[in-house]
Amino acid sequence: MNIELTESQVAIVSALFWLAIAFGILAWLYHKKPAPLRVTLEHSKRGLERVRSTVQTVTRWNAERLKSLLFDSFDKPKVCVISNREPYIHNREGALTKLLRPASGLVSALEPIVKACSGLWIAHGSGSADREMSDKNGKLQVPPEKPEYLLKRVWISKEDEDGYYNGFANEGLWPLCHIAHTRPRFSEGDWNKYVKVNQQFAKAMADEKLPGRPVVLVQDYHFALLPKLLKQNRPETLVSLFWHIPWPNAETFGICPWRENLLTGMLASDLIGFHTQFHCNNFFASVERFLEAKVDRETSSVTHQGHVCTIKPFPIGVDWPSPHAIEDSAFEDERLAILAEFGLPSEIKLGVGVDRADYTKGIVERFRSIELFLELHPEWIDRFSFIQIASPCRTKIARYAELSSEIKATAKEINERFAYAKVPPIVLKLKQHSHEQIHKLYRAADFCLVTPLHDGMNLVAKEFVSARSDMRGVLILSHFAGAAMELDHALLVNPYSANECAKAIHQAIMMPPSEQAERMRIMGEQVSERNIYAWAGSFLSEISEVSRRKGLRTSLFKREKEHLKATS
Ligand code: G6P
Repeated sequence: MNIELTESQVAIVSALFWLAIAFGILAWLYHKKPAPLRVTLEHSKRGLERVRSTVQTVTRWNAERLKSLLFDSFDKPKVCVISNREPYIHNREGALTKLLRPASGLVSALEPIVKACSGLWIAHGSGSADREMSDKNGKLQVPPEKPEYLLKRVWISKEDEDGYYNGFANEGLWPLCHIAHTRPRFSEGDWNKYVKVNQQFAKAMADEKLPGRPVVLVQDYHFALLPKLLKQNRPETLVSLFWHIPWPNAETFGICPWRENLLTGMLASDLIGFHTQFHCNNFFASVERFLEAKVDRETSSVTHQGHVCTIKPFPIGVDWPSPHAIEDSAFEDERLAILAEFGLPSEIKLGVGVDRADYTKGIVERFRSIELFLELHPEWIDRFSFIQIASPCRTKIARYAELSSEIKATAKEINERFAYAKVPPIVLKLKQHSHEQIHKLYRAADFCLVTPLHDGMNLVAKEFVSARSDMRGVLILSHFAGAAMELDHALLVNPYSANECAKAIHQAIMMPPSEQAERMRIMGEQVSERNIYAWAGSFLSEISEVSRRKGLRTSLFKREKEHLKATS
């Protein structure tokens, strides 16, 4: 067949031909680049690990990166941390002075920042030998063995400590913010002491007369009023507040007779941090309910009395790699040594729990779930034990004293019930242990029970993961800990359900090593990416961003004023 084409038809066909070729080349180029990545993501976990580890080596946070951020973002940074608990406590023991490092996540998270800029830390001098180890202004360089920053101790009278710390902070705000069914107790006397001690810390900061524009990192529920006092003393100070515990819903928060004072004090900050978005949302709802303020969820900010405060989540982390790490080959010997130390045979399955002896930690509920597990699986009697470290805290508060007795009595009752067994189901140590001892326990355990009834974050969960470089062990974690938002490869449980926890214990001790490794690997990635330096880094970046925005707003405002003046 002979097809005759006109000139214009030939032109169209050839244009179509070249278009098709160009399209083909483009499509080939487009598919050529992403193809290896698609294949990696879809088909090869090893490849994914490689991709991730390359990204991590470039971006993982560490002390050095934090230091550069600090010096890039602030002009001659002078950072000051204010917390109730001090990072170094000197205690008198007979003729000896002992240095104690509190087992506190707050301290390990903040110390790298203060060290990086040779900053200042203001805290309550609570040790029995603190005064003799400080100068006449309560100051000393720390760490004592290799000084890197200044610690300023504030002296609080026993009476003030009782109202401010034991009373308002720990019998009022602590149970108010945690859903653990312990009724908050508020008294006018405690409130007055809380106000007084907040003022005392504001004065301690003002007396320092730091040059430039100080950056103050106020910590926790002990100091809700401090941001406002700091701004009153020196309005140019950049003030942030990190609230380490949960924030309750507005209805619960409303119980507090001084709710408006607390919110007003906090909102004078330039930045407020919580661990989770959920707690930020509760905070916004409380502000809406009790203050005349503009809440803007789009920009995560509240404008109150003309001042803008940004409120965001910053989930806290732990040091990574663990400073207590040992060679994987040493794990087995260490486990045998730990079992021997606790008088346990070597062939058992071992669980651990590490907490402050606090009613929010669900220790008694945990013991009941262990009892139920042995009831449901008697084949594990004599082949199973659980070591619980419960460090005494806030012992002057009646509820804490009661709880210690309750913990002891429950452990005793359960062990007596299984008294015929050679291996005790529960080994209870009601005393503080060093970080080194705790990490040995993490490494010796087949599983770790972290089952708080309510918790802002819970760093034990993350520490357990950071300790398991051998990729073994199972984390059983409460839904009601902030850490559960990130560590969804733990066995998540409701700590109020003994049945659910008992099932999880069984699942943990029966879990094949390959599954343990897979879960640990994923959780390890999460914990390493969001380590303490990442937390501090993102918090400081946000402060610097807030300050930049404020500077911009102020200069615009100034220019507008000048313009109005000139044109009127
Ligand atoms: C827990 C909380 C912290 C709080 C600390 C105070 O660790 O999560 O937010 O600062 O307790 O403990 P303390 O022993 O100083 O009362």
